Amino acid sequence: MSVEVASASPFGLGKFLVLEGIEGSGKTTQLTYLEQELTALGHPPVLTREPGGTALGERLRGLLLDPDLPGMHADAELLLMFAARAQHLAEVIRPALEAGRWVVSDRFTDASYAYQGAGRGLGMQRIGVLEDWVQADLRPDLVILLDIDPAAGLERALQRGRRDRIEREALDFFARARDAYRARAEADPARYLVVDAADTPEGVRERILAGVRARLANAAQGRGDGGG
Ligand SMILES: Nc1ncnc2c1ncn2[C@@H]1O[C@H](COP(=O)(O)OP(=O)(O)OP(=O)(O)O)[C@@H](O)[C@H]1O
Ligand SMILES: [Mg+2]
Repeated sequence: MSVEVASASPFGLGKFLVLEGIEGSGKTTQLTYLEQELTALGHPPVLTREPGGTALGERLRGLLLDPDLPGMHADAELLLMFAARAQHLAEVIRPALEAGRWVVSDRFTDASYAYQGAGRGLGMQRIGVLEDWVQADLRPDLVILLDIDPAAGLERALQRGRRDRIEREALDFFARARDAYRARAEADPARYLVVDAADTPEGVRERILAGVRARLANAAQGRGDGGG
């Protein structure tokens, strides 16, 4: 059976890792490092991002980030995010995991809780309904939360130039998003690795690597007693 073939990996089927955090927290920077580290550990990952990751998703990303669409309704924003996510799951994430590949995504559903649920004030319950609908029982194995003060993160991000539609939000929007990320991590510590993203890129990288190694060791130990 395909399950037995895929468990040739010492850690079983493919794992789904997500990098989260507000603007400028260093997700894209750390994605490249994480790829190198997982490859060295024997799990060369599929790298992807949200919103995006597919042809449809990248088009939707263009709409979502377009500063020339300032009047986008919060519900429309949320539903476009989940439309992109449905395509991403069907076309990229599920097939890779089912083939035993590891997947690392630059943002996933925690960002919807943080930005649309808390930032836009839509509430967590609505995000949960869409999460259950679009993902069924699929959840990330590990969410690496790069935690940073919003002013410091935005200052980094804005060095890139023209602000996208989301980056035009006020600081308190990102403060609400950060708080929501942290609350989710606190509520489910086994699934989250919170890293102080104000450290140097190398420092952040080392903490992520240490955390991922520790989780993998635990996962390997936990196999066989229902921990998988
Ligand atoms: N630990 C760090 N210390 C200082 N600067 C950093 C650090 N990590 C990343 N940077 C720089 O900050 C900027 C933003 O980093 P990066 O693009 O990785 O953030 P991001 O979380 O992907 O942001 P966004 O959400 O906007 O995509 C880049 O110019 C990057 O080089
Ligand atoms: Mg980025």
